[in-house]
Amino acid sequence: MNIVLMGLPGAGKGTQADKIVEKYAIPHISTGDMFRAAIQEGTELGVKAKSFMDQGALVPDEVTIGIVRERLSKPDCEKGFLLDGFPRTVPQAEELDNILLQMERKIEHVLNIQVEKEELIARLTGRRICKVCGTSYHLQFKPPTVDGVCDKDGGELYQRADDNPETVTNRLEVNMNQTAPLLSFYDTKGVLSNIDGQQHINDVFNELDVILKDDKQ
Ligand code: AP5
Ligand code: MG
Ligand code: ZN
Repeated sequence: MNIVLMGLPGAGKGTQADKIVEKYAIPHISTGDMFRAAIQEGTELGVKAKSFMDQGALVPDEVTIGIVRERLSKPDCEKGFLLDGFPRTVPQAEELDNILLQMERKIEHVLNIQVEKEELIARLTGRRICKVCGTSYHLQFKPPTVDGVCDKDGGELYQRADDNPETVTNRLEVNMNQTAPLLSFYDTKGVLSNIDGQQHINDVFNELDVILKDDKQ
């Protein structure tokens, strides 16, 4: 199953990805997570990505495409994959098609999670993330049992560097500009499904799951 998860910042891509990979046992490939790991490790990729991410801008296509190409060549992607936050531009989508063509594969589902702007701002500014496992929480919408501590592993919760109000505004604007042409790119191919992301986390998953279940072999 080759899936792309789309949605503006805060739409719930990471939250739903956790549930999808648990059920369908495919790798979760989040370009944002890969860039954050590279920043943490202080690699050349991390240095390149950081200045863009700190401003809420997109990392240049050639850098982003390069890391996805490398990741998709790993053996664990043979049974399928879930891309989260990639592609984000039409050139990325075209290059993804080329990469998959060489592997004699194609994208089967593009799941676009739709949420209003005001709700996205509230979700992003209230988000907290576990330092150990990366699980997302929210101060109001998905609070941990104990303040500041992950339910799964007791890890400390932190706020992402780009979740401050100024960067959030920029991220939303940048991503909104890119989204419309990307959606029509996939709509033309007949693989796009729009999902109402403004429901309870479990109800959003149920909607996604109905689409994916049809295909489960
Ligand atoms: P990335 O890490 O992908 O960030 P993003 O797209 O801004 O999306 P988020 O991760 O912020 O949101 P999400 O949709 O995963 O929401 P979540 O599930 O956490 O990218 C970061 C940066 O990397 C980019 O700005 C760019 O610089 C760079 N980058 C990455 N990919 C790139 C690419 N392809 N090209 C170029 N640059 C790229 O949920 C958010 C919050 O809401 C959480 O607190 C959660 O608990 C809560 N929540 C989730 N679902 C619900 C619900 N149904 N109801 C209530 N609350 C909910
Ligand atoms: Mg995410
Ligand atoms: Zn954790």
